[in-house]
Amino acid sequence: MEENEQSARGLHFVGKKDELIEAKRSFRTIEDRDILIIYHQGVFYAMDSYCYHAGGMLNNGDIEEINGKLCIICPKHKYKLTLAKGECLYKGTNPKEKPPVPRWYSKGVKQRTHTVTENNGEIYVKLSDDPDWIESDYYQGEKGKIERAKA
Ligand code: FES
Repeated sequence: MEENEQSARGLHFVGKKDELIEAKRSFRTIEDRDILIIYHQGVFYAMDSYCYHAGGMLNNGDIEEINGKLCIICPKHKYKLTLAKGECLYKGTNPKEKPPVPRWYSKGVKQRTHTVTENNGEIYVKLSDDPDWIESDYYQGEKGKIERAKA
C-alpha cells in the first residue's frame, strides 16, 4: 500500500509486526491521542492508554478472561475493561434474586478502542471515528491530561 493511500484511509503506521509482538505492549501518540497497543494470544488490540475512571496507566494492567471476554485490569482501582470493545465489566448481585448470585454485568463502552490492521509485516492503527463521547476521551483532552499529571 502506498503511503498516501494509507493516510487517506486514516491508517497510522505504528511499527513492525515482529517488534510489536516482542514488546507485547506499546505506547504511541497518534494525532495527539495516547494509545496502548497490546499483543495478546495472537491478536493485536488498541485502546486509549489512560483508564476512563481516573486516568490509570493501562499498560501496567494484567490481562484476564472474564465471563468469556479478555479484559485488561486497570492497576489503579482494578476496573476491568474488555480488550475488544472497551466495555467495563463488574460483578454484581440482583437483590430480587433469592439467594442473590453474583454475576458479571457490563457498564457499557467506557474506553475508546481503535482498529489494528496488518499489511506485509507492518502494523497500522486507525483511530476510532465514533462521534459519541466515550468516557476515556476525558483523559485525552487538555484538562484530563493536567489532572492525570497531578495525581
Ligand atoms: Fe482505572 Fe480507577 S483509574 S480503575
